[in-house]
Amino acid sequence: MTESFSSRLNVAMAFRNVKQIDFVHAAEKFNIKLGKSHMSQYVSGKTVPRADIAHFLAAFLQVNEDWLMGKDVPMEQNAVILPAIESDETQPDSNSASAQSTEGKTMRTFTKSHKLDNVLYDVRGPVADEAARMEAAGTHILKLNIGNPAPFGFRTPDEVVYDMAQQLPETEGYSPSKGLFSARKAIMQYAQLKNIPNVSIDDIFTGNGVSELINLSLSALLDNGDEVLVPSPDYPLWTACVNLAGGTAVHYICDEESEWYPDIDDIRSKITDKTKAIVIINPNNPTGALYPKELLQQIVDIAREHQLIIFSDEIYDRLVMDGLEHISIASLAPDLFCVTFSGLSKSHMIAGYRIGWMILSGNKRIAKDYIEGLNMLANMRMCSNVPAQSVVQTALGGHQSVKDYIKPGGRVYEQRELVYQMLNEIPGVTAVKPKAAFYIFPKLDVKKFNIHSDEQFALDLLHDKHILISHGGAFNWQNPDHFRVVYLPRITMLKETISEIADFLSTYHQA
Ligand SMILES: Cc1ncc(COP(=O)(O)O)c(C=O)c1O
Repeated sequence: MTESFSSRLNVAMAFRNVKQIDFVHAAEKFNIKLGKSHMSQYVSGKTVPRADIAHFLAAFLQVNEDWLMGKDVPMEQNAVILPAIESDETQPDSNSASAQSTEGKTMRTFTKSHKLDNVLYDVRGPVADEAARMEAAGTHILKLNIGNPAPFGFRTPDEVVYDMAQQLPETEGYSPSKGLFSARKAIMQYAQLKNIPNVSIDDIFTGNGVSELINLSLSALLDNGDEVLVPSPDYPLWTACVNLAGGTAVHYICDEESEWYPDIDDIRSKITDKTKAIVIINPNNPTGALYPKELLQQIVDIAREHQLIIFSDEIYDRLVMDGLEHISIASLAPDLFCVTFSGLSKSHMIAGYRIGWMILSGNKRIAKDYIEGLNMLANMRMCSNVPAQSVVQTALGGHQSVKDYIKPGGRVYEQRELVYQMLNEIPGVTAVKPKAAFYIFPKLDVKKFNIHSDEQFALDLLHDKHILISHGGAFNWQNPDHFRVVYLPRITMLKETISEIADFLSTYHQA
């Protein structure tokens, strides 16, 4: 608990850019007894504060008190409640995050919306914040936490850059809200190749990445209390956007013992009369799983039986290895309403250009009203990035440079082979071989390492070896026994990094 409290305190202080002395000064104003030595003991983990001091620290840092004390709850809090200031100061202290008193009048402070109460996006959360703080202090951090190909030397195909440059002068204005005709036509033809049924050009929406469309599609659908089945582990934006839209993300388990495939019985057991939709992520982030046709068929059967919308996130569909084929679930469900998401961030290594799309297919009659809502929200954001739309046709046609990465001898393939082998050689670590994408989700032997907090594990690895990974909890995985590695770095760097993780784990025993 002590260890946990001090690291949370350090993370929150880095996050809010607060120094130890700031607490001491603020405490004076609130007539709270808090000396420099107390603060340094809390920060170093020698002691934990009494309840009233903990309350003050949490309020000053604007974090959830339970989180600060090491509990498994979100970091953020809404209300900031501090005792009234008994001070003759008239100038508000810019470091103080609390309600300020000016001539006896309590000033209003601004907290974030309650809509964010259940929203968590920890892939870029406190551990990444701590890494940013260390970087700012001059420490080099090796980041294996975000699937961003460009920093690891994955270059955008020349033709894509050339074509965007050529078209730049013609892409200054807004496009139609769903996107340029040429882009949507190319996506429509792509849908035909994937056997996605009943797709016209009007059924294609481009977006500023798949991210924007995940948010848009859930905002247009959900009323308060509606339930959506989301995988665990998941790409956490899905859970966050369901909750942000007022819905409830109900997690179904993906089974590590079965290649990380969704557990069909678990899906069935989680359906209620409030369930409106099921999300699948195929190929999967964070596990790298690729779902076979029989499994997809079983999911379709459930969706049919319970009249659910299928949302299928297929952004990694062109990053499939071992000669396997990706099957779009929508191709198996012509009688259901499906929304299929993909984009160019990963397959064309242009995550920064921000271009993705969603394809409506199958039985669109049952979703007429919902589609009106989608149109309304798409219109409200005018359109997606037009220069990026202008390269969709080029990107989806002709030679697919990504294919060179995923065959034997290609970078993604060879990096996967290495990372899979090296991780499995570490005592206390096991990992299922990913079939697609560029992630692996290894399991830690929690007994061997005495791990009770995966976030703490990530922080310890960061502090000790300057390696940033994402803890399993960031992917809505309930047990503290997994972490995700992005295996985008080159072989030499990966070798070094995984050896460092092995070295770290050879003595690791969580306090
Ligand atoms: C499964 C999944 N869906 C969607 C996204 C977001 O992609 P985009 O860059 O198109 O917003 C990511 C990004 O990592 C992802 O892993």
